[in-house]
Amino acid sequence: MTLAGDIRERLRARAGAPPSRESARLPAGRYADPSFHEAERARLFARSWLLAGRLDEVASPGLYMTWEKTRVPLIVVHAVDGVVRCFYNSCRHRGAPVVRVPRGRNRALRCQYHSWTYDTSGKLVSVPDERDFVDLRREERGLVPVACALADGAIFVNEEAAAPDLRDWLGPAGEELRAAAGEGLRTLDRRSVTVAANWKRVMGRLLAAPPAPPRAGAGPLIADGDAADAETLANGHLRVVAPFTPESASALGLASPLDWIDPADGAPSASPGPGAMLHSAAAAYVLFPNLLVALAPDGVLGLAVWPEGEASALLDAVWYAPDWGEGDSPAVQPAWRTRLEWTQGLLDGIAEALAGDAEAVAELAERGGALESGSEAVRRWHEALDARLGEHAPAALRVR
Ligand code: FES
Repeated sequence: MTLAGDIRERLRARAGAPPSRESARLPAGRYADPSFHEAERARLFARSWLLAGRLDEVASPGLYMTWEKTRVPLIVVHAVDGVVRCFYNSCRHRGAPVVRVPRGRNRALRCQYHSWTYDTSGKLVSVPDERDFVDLRREERGLVPVACALADGAIFVNEEAAAPDLRDWLGPAGEELRAAAGEGLRTLDRRSVTVAANWKRVMGRLLAAPPAPPRAGAGPLIADGDAADAETLANGHLRVVAPFTPESASALGLASPLDWIDPADGAPSASPGPGAMLHSAAAAYVLFPNLLVALAPDGVLGLAVWPEGEASALLDAVWYAPDWGEGDSPAVQPAWRTRLEWTQGLLDGIAEALAGDAEAVAELAERGGALESGSEAVRRWHEALDARLGEHAPAALRVR
């Protein structure tokens, strides 16, 4: 049986069973308590591999970009030796930002304050009036590195000093994602929205109703998040596959939501492959902690949620498509325009739905109340969060 076939069988078994109680209680303080937020900052965002961009954003040696999604100023540099590196954007003289322009090309990184200059491997190579600095040892004053690694063109960074190998950390989720999404993707569009809610509330919405990007000729699609198959993979990553509603399934040419067909031949299969799953269901992977990757037959949508304090979050949506070479970006094509409009609608819809959420949740937290996780995917994601935070988060705020 293929992975897609296994998943479809579980979905079928679930469809025939009485509704299960997969929900868990989520103490509202998880979303509002400053100590919980601080534990996430220190134990999660400072110690996880986080998506910083794709190689096409710093495609050639000398290109750099600043990156501050975690509120820690970093620089990602495609060094002249061809290696992509990451450093704290902080000069080893007095801590000024080494680069101030968000993106650019430089063969050396020169701090504008007093012109200490670093090469793209982070080495301090030039100090004006160096003789004035008694005992200055250049080899000890290079830029402070941050772990940086690539997986299929995606750039990940990790502030943890002893960061695990990226491939090990991605594990089966990374392998499945590579098999389903393909390689050679390129950034097609990026957009963001600020949501007035805790970042976990945004993750919760994405997980409860996996995004179903429109497909050419099929009209809007709706996935049935309550019926989704959610599986926790190594390191807290998740796979979530939701069947479409009967109307959406019909728009895709399926006889019913669980009669998957392979778009290559339009035929149902006893043991469907990844192509049939991508065509016939809403499939997504969560790369723990904050990245949901929604798969479409001809592209990948990355949705990353970044905390901005307890009560606000930034939601980034980035579309990646197979590399289109030298020609015009497919973004101008009608099918992609529809998809990008849908993406904006998705972001706006989440921001609208969660307007006022932070205040309501804070009030609930004051009363010691809790929220229901609802879907299995949400529960599993919160459980992975608790497993990661361990004793560093208040015990009273754990999933129940
Ligand atoms: S702070 Fe960078 S050169 Fe002085």
